[in-house]
Amino acid sequence: MADVPESILIDDIATLVTNDPSRGRGAVGEIRDAAMVVQGGRVAWAGPRSQAPDADARVDAAGRCVLPGFVDSHSHIVFAGNRSREFAARMSGQPYSAGGIRTTVAATREASDADLLAGARRLVGEARAQGTTTLEVKSGYGLTTRDEERCLAVAARVTDEVTFLGAHVVAPEYADDPEGYLDLVTGPMMDACAPHARWVDVFCERGAFDEDASRRVLTAGRERGLLPRVHGNQLGEGPGVRLAVELGAASVDHCTHLSAADVEALAEAGGRPEPTVATLLPGVDFSTRQPYPDARALIDAGAVVALASDCNPGSCFTSSLAFCIAVAVRDMGMTPDEAVWAATAGGARALRRTDVGHLAPGARADLTLLDAPDHVHLAYRPGVPQVAAVWKDGELVA
Ligand code: NIG
Ligand code: FE
Repeated sequence: MADVPESILIDDIATLVTNDPSRGRGAVGEIRDAAMVVQGGRVAWAGPRSQAPDADARVDAAGRCVLPGFVDSHSHIVFAGNRSREFAARMSGQPYSAGGIRTTVAATREASDADLLAGARRLVGEARAQGTTTLEVKSGYGLTTRDEERCLAVAARVTDEVTFLGAHVVAPEYADDPEGYLDLVTGPMMDACAPHARWVDVFCERGAFDEDASRRVLTAGRERGLLPRVHGNQLGEGPGVRLAVELGAASVDHCTHLSAADVEALAEAGGRPEPTVATLLPGVDFSTRQPYPDARALIDAGAVVALASDCNPGSCFTSSLAFCIAVAVRDMGMTPDEAVWAATAGGARALRRTDVGHLAPGARADLTLLDAPDHVHLAYRPGVPQVAAVWKDGELVA
């Protein structure tokens, strides 16, 4: 007879966030005084404690909160060096410009594969200890075929959600020949990189890639089986949102500067079976002293909103989704429920994943135990470490 995996009852959960509205209160499907059963790396059961079935083993949540692990759908954690001095200069009045990316490109090209992998692993561990169980990782600091390929190979060692971002900025060698760089990215570089990635991304912004160039990049990726996502509307209004919606991208990220037409487009795309998610990155707006995006307007209009870290050495060096939630609640008009949903279920939608971001039976047992009685404490106690334990695929990982 085949071995039946051990079932584990997580008992005495004061608040269980399931993100399954059929199972509990509100969009976060909150169940008070709950329990859940995990078996074979998946959620087997979730519901009121009084109805909990028997299990082989028991974990005592001791009156604390369990929620799905965070799904961080946007990061750039394969890089070398840091840009703390650039941050300090910015806090003294210098504006953020994408030009700083080239500093990291130079350091990343110099670094060995082993050093890049060690750095990425360190940041994955840091994120995991703060409750992140799914993390998207982009290339974009190599900008040669060889360096992009090795950054993607490193990313693939730490996640399944790998994104080719050769179109981050024009590589320094091509400063006088941006068309030549576009030919490289959409041709030989894309050919070499596509097998390592699931997604293709482009920085569609003044100073990086314009609408036509961005469309070329995303289309070339699609022709090689990659799914599009977009960096758009970060530093000013522009074509990023419009293009993402037009191409049915899974997500358009930043959305700091939106026109009324952009909000309308995201609302329309939010109603699609496979929406283009508006992924907001509050840490970037915090660390670059930009205004915060109007999450309230997006949600009220009907857009699907996710929160992600954008962890990178330039515009935002945080891996903390708890921090992003706190800012989104304090300054972007989101309720605590909406912000927690956006950092879990919203991130899953931005990655077109149905197995993570919720805790209904059948979902991956990726979950976080908070040292707090409910998920509101994530925003209510900003800056305080509250993650007591993290499970991924039913295994204790932090
Ligand atoms: O998402 N905006 C483009 N790329 C990153 C920043 C990269 C950097 O400054 O190194 C971002 O903010
Ligand atoms: Fe980014």
